[in-house]
Amino acid sequence: MDTKTKATLTLDGKSYDLPVHAPTLGPNVLDIRKLYADAGVFTYDPGFTSTASCESSITFIDGDKGELLHRGYSIDELAEHSHFLEVCYLLLYGELPTAAQLSDFEGRVTRHTMVHEQMHYFFRGFRRDSHPMATLVGVVGAMSAFYHDSLDINDPWQREVAAIRMIAKLPTIAAMAFKYSVGQPFVYPKNSLDYAGNFLHMCFAIPAEDYVVNPILSKALDRIMMLHADHEQNASTSTVRLAGSSGANPFACIAAGIACLWGPAHGGANQACLEMLREIGTVDRIPEFIARAKNKDDPFRLMGFGHRVYKNFDPRAKVMKESADEVLGLLGIENNPTLQVAKEMERIALEDDYFVSKKLYPNVDFYSGIILDAMGFPTSMFTPIFALSRTVGWISQWKEMIADKDQKIGRPRQLYVGEKHRKYVDVRHR
Ligand code: CMC
Repeated sequence: MDTKTKATLTLDGKSYDLPVHAPTLGPNVLDIRKLYADAGVFTYDPGFTSTASCESSITFIDGDKGELLHRGYSIDELAEHSHFLEVCYLLLYGELPTAAQLSDFEGRVTRHTMVHEQMHYFFRGFRRDSHPMATLVGVVGAMSAFYHDSLDINDPWQREVAAIRMIAKLPTIAAMAFKYSVGQPFVYPKNSLDYAGNFLHMCFAIPAEDYVVNPILSKALDRIMMLHADHEQNASTSTVRLAGSSGANPFACIAAGIACLWGPAHGGANQACLEMLREIGTVDRIPEFIARAKNKDDPFRLMGFGHRVYKNFDPRAKVMKESADEVLGLLGIENNPTLQVAKEMERIALEDDYFVSKKLYPNVDFYSGIILDAMGFPTSMFTPIFALSRTVGWISQWKEMIADKDQKIGRPRQLYVGEKHRKYVDVRHR
């Protein structure tokens, strides 16, 4: 950490020096760690809009430029030239792999794709109509009951095994959640297929017929996974870090991240967005929904629009839109009515004062659902696919945190606005 300058805070006539850290990229960061001890005050920042919670060297976002870097590589370049497992390696270990390192890593992930056979029975405790995210939260949390030999967070080897297990098994568990919800038998992983192809196979193969993975679909799915792999300190990643800061085991931490991701303001937006586009149905109904989104008395929001950090454009959405055009074109369904509504909605919103002045742009979830829908996934599987793609980001951030000597249990303070001291009154006198 490079500390060159300091800021001075004056409070009640006294001055306090605060170190100012210079990051490699992004705005300077005011270090307030000693503020309470020295000045006896807290800072107040609901939603952490101005607070850096950790030091990290994994992912960088410049919200004004619409830039996303993983370990210094831009998402556009990665989306064009790389593939999901290579990006996983980059996020986990900090460098692009050599051919030998990549093949070793792919081998390790592939060898871990099966889940403990007893897990099949664990699934049967869920109702068939459970949302796959509900099943995913439960089953990933339960991994700590199955993999006792990778729970010791102080052992680097066990941390590594837990990371590989989760990257390898999340697609298997998500596919099982899907199969369970549609009443079909589970399909075992097939290690001759690549990561995305294997997931499609586990979701769409049935024992009665041969299933051949469509390379257009597996390539498009791999790109969706890449675009979702990590996104610095977003809500679910911060949840994983907070859960992990208490020393909780890695499976419990990732389950906490999945629970947070499920919300419609975060990963649940991809399901909500496609359902919204379908509800709109035709281009002529768009103004009605735009008007609702602008109405302060209506809780409705345009799903797939807006972002806490991106205030210019979401670089992932740009790639996702190109991908939607390409995939639907290759599949011969470019006249997909939902895509037409989405494109027109984007056009109208980007010219509207409300959206322009609030810097609301389509985010990654705006176009991903259209591609997943074209692949045959029901909307309830959209967020589980986000979850399995983000697992590598969560686990990379968790590993970084555990190895950080400055890490402490996460424990925010509060601005208390409740009652002052009161005397207990017996129930007969209230
Ligand atoms: N539609 C209409 N108005 C909006 C929207 C929207 N989608 N998003 C924000 N606004 C308005 C909001 O009402 C507020 O207006 P005002 O200043 O008059 O009160 C202003 O814009 C700022 O919004 P905010 O809620 O304070 O901003 P935030 O940074 O806390 O929220 C967000 C960011 C992504 C939660 C929000 O834009 C949103 O709810 N979007 C829809 C859900 C969505 O698409 N989420 C996916 C995010 S990207 C994938 C991921 O990271 O999971």
